[in-house]
Amino acid sequence: MKVAILGYGTVGSGVFEIMRSNQDGISRRAGEEVEVKYVLDLRDFPGDPVEDVLVHDFKQIVDDPEVGVVVEVMGGVEKAYSFVKEALLTGKSVCTSNKELVAKHGAELLEIAKQKKKNFLFEASVGGGIPIIRPLNQSLTADEIREVTGVLNGTTNYMLTKMRDEDAEFDDVLADAQAKGYAERNPSADVEGFDAGRKIAILTSLACGMQVDYEDIYTEGITKISKTDIAYAKAAGVNIKLFGTSRRVDGRVYAMVAPYMVGKEHPLYAVDDVFNAILVRGNFLGDIMFYGKGAGKLPTASAVVSDVVDAVKHRETNVMTIWNSRKLELAELDTLENKFFVRVPESEKQKAQQLFAVEREVRAEGIEGEYAFFTRPMTEGDFALAAAKTEVISRIRAEI
Ligand code: HSE
Repeated sequence: MKVAILGYGTVGSGVFEIMRSNQDGISRRAGEEVEVKYVLDLRDFPGDPVEDVLVHDFKQIVDDPEVGVVVEVMGGVEKAYSFVKEALLTGKSVCTSNKELVAKHGAELLEIAKQKKKNFLFEASVGGGIPIIRPLNQSLTADEIREVTGVLNGTTNYMLTKMRDEDAEFDDVLADAQAKGYAERNPSADVEGFDAGRKIAILTSLACGMQVDYEDIYTEGITKISKTDIAYAKAAGVNIKLFGTSRRVDGRVYAMVAPYMVGKEHPLYAVDDVFNAILVRGNFLGDIMFYGKGAGKLPTASAVVSDVVDAVKHRETNVMTIWNSRKLELAELDTLENKFFVRVPESEKQKAQQLFAVEREVRAEGIEGEYAFFTRPMTEGDFALAAAKTEVISRIRAEI
C-alpha cells in the first residue's frame, strides 16, 4: 500500500518520521507493506530525507492508482476540503488531523467514504495522541453517552500549568507553547477556546450521531484568567482548566467551552502541562477517562499513523461511523446548572450574600478589598440575573 502525505509541516514531518522509523511494525500490523510514496508541499526541503518523495502537484497523487491512503495534515479548510473530497471520490481513504475540516465537513466526507467503501479517519483531530475517536465509535457502543468533558487544548493547559507553578506571564508561556509546536498557527484559536470548541463539536457529533456546529457552542477562552484568579485557585486548593463539555440532560444537549475551577476529587483535576484528558460518562458504563499528550508533533503524528494502519486493514470496507448531516439544535444554556467562583468588591459582600447561595468563602494571602466565594449549583440564567445586580470582578465556573 502506498501512502501520500499532504503537508510537510509539524505533523506531516512527524508522520513521515514515524512511517519511516517504524515501517516494519506498521506493515506487520497493517497486514501488508506500507510505504510513503509522496509528500506534497509547496516548499522545497534541500538535504531533508523527504526530498526523494517530495512533489508539488496534488494531481500526481490523485492520479496515481497505487496510492490507496492519503494523509491530510496541511491544516486550513478550503484547500484541505477540496483535496480530501477529491481523494475520497477517486477511491482513496483519507486520514486527517485537521479538526477544523472535520468539525465543518465531517458528516459529508464520511458519507462519501461510505459510498466509495473507503474510510475517512480523524483520530488525531481530538486529543492529539489519545485514542478517543475510535473508542467512541467502536468501543463505547452499548451506552448512551450522558456527558463528554475534556481538557481538549494542550496549549492552554500548558499555559495554565506554567502560570500556576512558575508564576509565569501569559505572553511568555504562550511563546513557549508556540516554540514547542503545540499552538495553532494563529494562537488565538487556542487561547480564545475555538480549538477546544471544534473538538467538543466533533465529540458531541459522534456521541449524538448528528451534526453539531461549533459556531453554536458558547465559547470562552483563558484570556481573562488573571494572576489574582490563579492565587485564589491555589488558596482554595483547586486547579483552573479549560473544559470543553457537552451534557445530555432530560433529552436536551448542552455544550460549552469555558475555564472551570476544578476540585481535587474531579477526575480531570490533575491533568497538567500539554496533557489532555477526556472523561466520558455512559448510562451503564459510568465514567471512563482517556489521557495522553494532546498536542505536539509526534503524539499527533502517532494518532495519524494509527489511522493509516486502520485504513490499510479496511482497504475494501467502510468502518461505519454514525454522524449524519442533520443538525442537532443545542439547548440554551440558561437552564444549565453550574457552581460559580465569584469575586466582588468588599463593599458588595452583603449584597452578594443576599443574591447568591454562598457555599464556601475563599481568602487568598495578599489580596485585599475583595470578597470571593463559591456558589452552590445554580442555573446560568439565575447567575446572570444575580450578577447583573452587583459588581462582579470576575467569575469562573466550578466543579468542586
Ligand atoms: N493547538 C492544539 C492544542 C494542537 O494546543 O491542543 C492540537 O490539536
